[in-house]
Amino acid sequence: MKELMQSLREASLKAISETDSPESVEALRVRYLGKKGELTSILRQMGKLSPEERPVMGQLANQLRAEIEEAIELRKTMLGKVMLEKKLEAEAVDVTLPGVEQPAGHKHPMYNVLDQIKEIFIGMGYEIVDGPEVELSEYNFTKLNIEESHPSRDWTDTFYFTEDGRVCLRTQTSPMQVHAMETRPLPIRMIAPGRVYRKDEVDATHSPMFHQIEGMVIDKGITMADLKATLNLVVEQIYGKGTVTRFRPHHFPFTEPSCELDIQCHKCGGKGCPTCKGEGWIEVLGAGMVHPKVLAGCGIDPDVYSGWAFGMGLERLAMGEYKITDLRLIFENDVRFLEQF
Ligand code: PHE
Repeated sequence: MKELMQSLREASLKAISETDSPESVEALRVRYLGKKGELTSILRQMGKLSPEERPVMGQLANQLRAEIEEAIELRKTMLGKVMLEKKLEAEAVDVTLPGVEQPAGHKHPMYNVLDQIKEIFIGMGYEIVDGPEVELSEYNFTKLNIEESHPSRDWTDTFYFTEDGRVCLRTQTSPMQVHAMETRPLPIRMIAPGRVYRKDEVDATHSPMFHQIEGMVIDKGITMADLKATLNLVVEQIYGKGTVTRFRPHHFPFTEPSCELDIQCHKCGGKGCPTCKGEGWIEVLGAGMVHPKVLAGCGIDPDVYSGWAFGMGLERLAMGEYKITDLRLIFENDVRFLEQF
């Protein structure tokens, strides 16, 4: 029995010294000292010993248990230290290394242009108003004097939500004229930028979603002269002093008279070039004097009040300003494109 304990001592101390994790040390504790462990099974044979031998063997067994336990604890502490060191080494931070650059984003180029325009109008005392993109056809068309048979109301041109055509995605920001007249005290000076939607195929100059800026003034004694003077001022601030403009007669159902504003091509000075498609002029916006029928429909007496309004495409403006040749680039939001501005 003494020999058995001796060989258990050697084998166990060796095995413990060779472990490489706290878990394997624990497994050895069970193997040697557990209820069904090797030391226990040796002790089971105590019964065969003479009464004189028993206490001697018992003492030896207790010593061996204590020795194995101590070896286990020592090994565990050591392995713990080694593992901690390894972990610290693996997680070491070199504070002298340069940091990883976190690129800061910036405003989309088109919104830069929008901000610039907002500034111009805020400077003239205009309010910036916001309104729904999901609109009643009543506001998008009817209250703007656009009759049922008008082609823009067609299902092939407008996104409708309901079978009866009552609700649609606004096709223009002009319904904001009506909202403003119905809800705001007079006089009104406002611009309303936002998204609009039309069933257009996507190409270099068309997208089913694009942005417009609506503008409107309603007051006593407003005339076409106010429209021209204001828009000329705005154009000069956007395109530079001395930009030549031309107000060309046009038709919109909700303004009378109506016009389109062109600027003389800044590239060729009006001679005709690829930028102006040989025209010499670049179309900038549609405008006109708010139709008396529209005023009256919003509860404003057209004999007392008058006003003018305009609608301007934002993408085209940004494309001109940043020399962007394809509209799709504005919406793809590829950082390689956006980073250039
Ligand atoms: N809403 C018109 C369009 O989308 C532009 C416009 C606005 C014209 C205001 C006159 C007055 O083309």
